[in-house]
Amino acid sequence: LTRILTVELGARSYPIHIGAGLLSGLGEKIRKQVTGRRVLVVTNPTVKKLYGAVADRSLAAAGLDLYWAEIPDGEEHKTLAVAARLYDLAFDAGLDRDCPVVALGGGVVGDITGFVAATYLRGVPFVQVPTTLLAQVDSSVGGKVAVNHPRGKNIIGAFYQPRLVVADTDTLLTLPEREIRAGIGEIIKYGVIADAEFFAWLENNLERLSAGNPETLAYAVEISCRIKAAVVAADETEQGHRQILNYGHTIGHAIESLTDYREYLHGEAISIGMVAAARLAVRLGMLDETAQGRIEHLVQRAGLPTALPPGLDFEAVLASLQRDKKARAGRITFILPEAVGRVRICPDIASSVLRPLFPPVTVP
Ligand SMILES: NC(=O)c1ccc[n+]([C@@H]2O[C@H](COP(=O)([O-])OP(=O)(O)OC[C@H]3O[C@@H](n4cnc5c(N)ncnc54)[C@H](O)[C@@H]3O)[C@@H](O)[C@H]2O)c1
Ligand SMILES: [Zn+2]
Repeated sequence: LTRILTVELGARSYPIHIGAGLLSGLGEKIRKQVTGRRVLVVTNPTVKKLYGAVADRSLAAAGLDLYWAEIPDGEEHKTLAVAARLYDLAFDAGLDRDCPVVALGGGVVGDITGFVAATYLRGVPFVQVPTTLLAQVDSSVGGKVAVNHPRGKNIIGAFYQPRLVVADTDTLLTLPEREIRAGIGEIIKYGVIADAEFFAWLENNLERLSAGNPETLAYAVEISCRIKAAVVAADETEQGHRQILNYGHTIGHAIESLTDYREYLHGEAISIGMVAAARLAVRLGMLDETAQGRIEHLVQRAGLPTALPPGLDFEAVLASLQRDKKARAGRITFILPEAVGRVRICPDIASSVLRPLFPPVTVP
């Protein structure tokens, strides 16, 4: 059963294919979508070892000339220097403006490959083949592409939509459990921001989802992509509404940055942020405690963190929030839930209301 969604962006609309075993038909799908016959597939050694052979066979069977490019595994390699090496490989392979660049991997591979696709020859067709849960439900959809800079994460980039997204849910079966949990953090986010029914489904199906049940995963990926696609279609370049996808991310980003991106996976950091934002919403009288309790309980049941790590104090978090490029005059934008399934963009949160959210950790 393949589920096909469309991100509606007029002439730049594109399909998202979701299903088990789709990798073996990747070549045909690419052929239908682009005219160029030379294809540069960017991946990393971890993913290539697992899925290189099947991708290879599939593209060859479709009559495509496949060129591989490997980047080292890890966020620290999402850099301009690595992107520059990818341009070299694209030139060496003789890619012209009709030839696609394909990202086979998680969000790191997807972001840097998209950046290269957006800029090589001022833009060539881009195909996302996400292989992590986070990439399937989030980073492969919506066209944010970027590399990191010493001054910050993802601050060199563009909006550049793919032509096609192929999410083979079978690839999730080799993911470490911790990566699955982190992806579930983003999935919970979609329930809170846009879909109470989906949130309730998550409450009822969390164990099956965490255990990697294929049908359960495929459904969660589908609904998540549906929600993200609708938000992106409404506000592609984040002038307003798209900000709701940042629920949990205000504090999440601060935590990631304060821990040098080492301690937490992204989905873990935003889980802490989602719980904090829900508590803040209660304090501000926007959310009832029952709803807040449901959010916190689901995050916790998913095995995701709900509190700041001991040793990280609130003043540090606050200072980091105020350094954030989105903070203005000490006031910080939060995405706050008004109910399970509905959030509001609150651009004007004063730091004084945040302090009580983070009681100092008492050391016995
Ligand atoms: N563009 C966006 O809208 C957007 C949104 C969210 C996150 N991101 C970016 O995504 C990145 C994080 O992505 P991620 O969580 O996928 O991390 P990742 O790409 O580092 O992948 C996590 C790990 O899983 C491995 N892996 C990938 N697929 C696998 C598989 N099928 N089986 C076994 N191992 C596999 C990878 O090699 C890596 O070690 C960050 O750079 C973040 O900035 C982008
Ligand atoms: Zn995120």
